[in-house]
Amino acid sequence: MYTVPKLEDYSQHALDRAVVDLLAALDSETRELRTDSDWKTFRDRWMARKNGVLTQVNDTWLKAAPSPAKRDVGRRVNELKTRVEAAIEEAHGKIHASSADARLASERLDITLPGIHRPIGVKHPVLRVMDEIVAVFKAMGYSVGEGPEVETDYYNFESLNFPPNHPARDTQDTLFIAGQEQKPARDRLMLRTHTSPVQIRTMEVQPPPVRIVIPGKVHRNDPLDATHSPVFHQVEGLAVDTNITFCDLKGTLDHAMKALFGSSVKTRFYPSFFPFTEPSADMQVSCIFCGGQGCRKCKFSGWIELLGCGMVDPNVFEFVKHNGYDSSKISGFAFGMGVERIALLKYEVESIQLFYEGDVRFLEQFA
Ligand code: PHE
Repeated sequence: MYTVPKLEDYSQHALDRAVVDLLAALDSETRELRTDSDWKTFRDRWMARKNGVLTQVNDTWLKAAPSPAKRDVGRRVNELKTRVEAAIEEAHGKIHASSADARLASERLDITLPGIHRPIGVKHPVLRVMDEIVAVFKAMGYSVGEGPEVETDYYNFESLNFPPNHPARDTQDTLFIAGQEQKPARDRLMLRTHTSPVQIRTMEVQPPPVRIVIPGKVHRNDPLDATHSPVFHQVEGLAVDTNITFCDLKGTLDHAMKALFGSSVKTRFYPSFFPFTEPSADMQVSCIFCGGQGCRKCKFSGWIELLGCGMVDPNVFEFVKHNGYDSSKISGFAFGMGVERIALLKYEVESIQLFYEGDVRFLEQFA
């Protein structure tokens, strides 16, 4: 480490040498500096008022100089002071810059790397089809209603003209809530087997005219197979007004099927039975796979059965007569369709179970 020497004499030569040695030491010390604290130690070593190198130079060279040399030594000492200050300043700048460089380097980030792919969820195909069906009827001026999934015998059956113990009840294998034997039959709870109870619930609170669609979940004690599930979805429809005819029913459903399956699809109405409609029909659409030619899917008939419908039975209006439903003045039609059944056809899905298994490989196809 450099220490300030005493000058042996004050000749130009001796002064030059002393100055050269000091500057060489200054230079080599600046090159050793790495950190901010190195720099502070260095700065204090050279600049400290008490015993810093410059102070020593001042004391040992200038103060000790004989009068004739004072002027020259003073000039050199001043020059040294300027050089030292400049060196300290420059070293500070370098250290600062290199630590900023280090920080930038450590924060370096490769923006060309591929990002983390987060797949975005979409609506389940069953809900999507349900929304689509509802939208078709909304466009025709229908409103949308809902009702409870746990229903009473009264709404699910009795008020829909299924009298107690009537064999028509057997067509809908029902899941009953246990332990209700003490209750009157009509108050006993069950999982609704269809969305039709919401017809009555709607008419109880809204006098005619009514045009409503009711999407919802229903339950039946059916074993799971390729086309049946104990839990499935329906969209119910009800229109009540003066002068509603079977023609209105046919025209409305024909339009809805064309909106759902494309304008080339045909509909036909086949006699059927439901206790709450009279007359009743099963509506069939021309096979969407073969266009009506006959194929395996339509069992070579050219037609696929899709929904139940009919004119509201006057016996049903009897249950809501107090709210303006007088069957001598008004009439109406109703229909109910299975959402999964339509989704199976629309997307050509092999088995209804695929809708409930939650297999992402299946569901991804609808994204
Ligand atoms: N509720 C009937 C069913 O689930 C369908 C239906 C609704 C039939 C409305 C006629 C009128 O099978």
